[in-house]
Amino acid sequence: LKQSRVAMVGSSALACAMVPMLCHNVLQDEQFDNTVMMWVHDAAHVHEGRTILDIINQDHQNPKELPGVHLGDNLVASGNLEEVAKDADVLVFCAPHESMHSITRRLMGKVKRDAIAISLVKGMRVGRDGPQLISQMIRKNLNLDCSVLIGGNVASDLGNKELSEAVIASSSREMGAVFRKLFQTSYFYVDILQDVAGAEMCGTLKNIVALAVGIVDGLDYGCNAKAVVMRQGLTEMRKFAKTLYPNVRNETFFESCGLGDLITTCSGGRNHATAEAWTRAWKSGAPKTWTKLEEEILGGQRLQGVATSNVVQEVMRVRGWESTYPLFSTVNRIINGRVEPSQILHFCQANGIQT
Ligand code: 13P
Repeated sequence: LKQSRVAMVGSSALACAMVPMLCHNVLQDEQFDNTVMMWVHDAAHVHEGRTILDIINQDHQNPKELPGVHLGDNLVASGNLEEVAKDADVLVFCAPHESMHSITRRLMGKVKRDAIAISLVKGMRVGRDGPQLISQMIRKNLNLDCSVLIGGNVASDLGNKELSEAVIASSSREMGAVFRKLFQTSYFYVDILQDVAGAEMCGTLKNIVALAVGIVDGLDYGCNAKAVVMRQGLTEMRKFAKTLYPNVRNETFFESCGLGDLITTCSGGRNHATAEAWTRAWKSGAPKTWTKLEEEILGGQRLQGVATSNVVQEVMRVRGWESTYPLFSTVNRIINGRVEPSQILHFCQANGIQT
């Protein structure tokens, strides 16, 4: 009986929070090979005298990304992307969205033809042919069926095995069921949807709303204002997703990938925290750049919300939609220094934008 080999492409905090589930679940089901492979992009990074790769393989931990979390004794890490991917039957992608184009291009023609893929990536790209979701990029570049897993999933909470949930959106329920076997645990509930684009757009666009709420908190406004921004954000998320992908379903926005992820990210995510710090620095008269704050708060990781806002703005600009999405447009103007953060509460009037 052929056993499916599972590979995690990425070693970010979220990847390290998900790997323990994979390592646990492959041992429970004979359908899967007992070893989980992981590609480590910064394998040579030295931490307290040893490389990250050695630490992961010897101690089964990633102290740089998710300290204190046991990844699994049956995890084998490698710094060689092609080697990790070539024999995998199940490819799990979890890397920053701006790296995904080069990762998938490196893997072109180098993955098994009948492999299946799932993306945990929250973001999109504007290519020559217009906007492209990461699942579409994987499908196009690697010719693989690609599902997505999206939910309110802060990595450190998952690492602590606190209750969390997510949806797996797949082209078929059967495919979703295979992935659920790999991810679901006693502390991680997984629901299956068939709205891949809807779930992925939720995970992508909520990062812009998280910036908006971080700005509101940085200005020390209260809960009413925060609720206005979150509600408007959810409305714009749904409108934008359904305009780009007409088959996207309304119900998707009330699942863990929609409302669930929005609440999580606006309460405790990195985008929110960094936007709050950025706004406070501006208010104190000593503004800081996003890059500086990425170094100070995120240890050099790039903020997904800023990149996503810029990509979404480009899509809106090309199509003449800026006035249709007043909150998204106002966030983009604020983060690029074109209007002051206080304009966040005037998103309906800002710069001639109409509702
Ligand atoms: P941040 O990327 O803002 O930390 O949000 C985490 C997240 O996506 C929660 O689901």
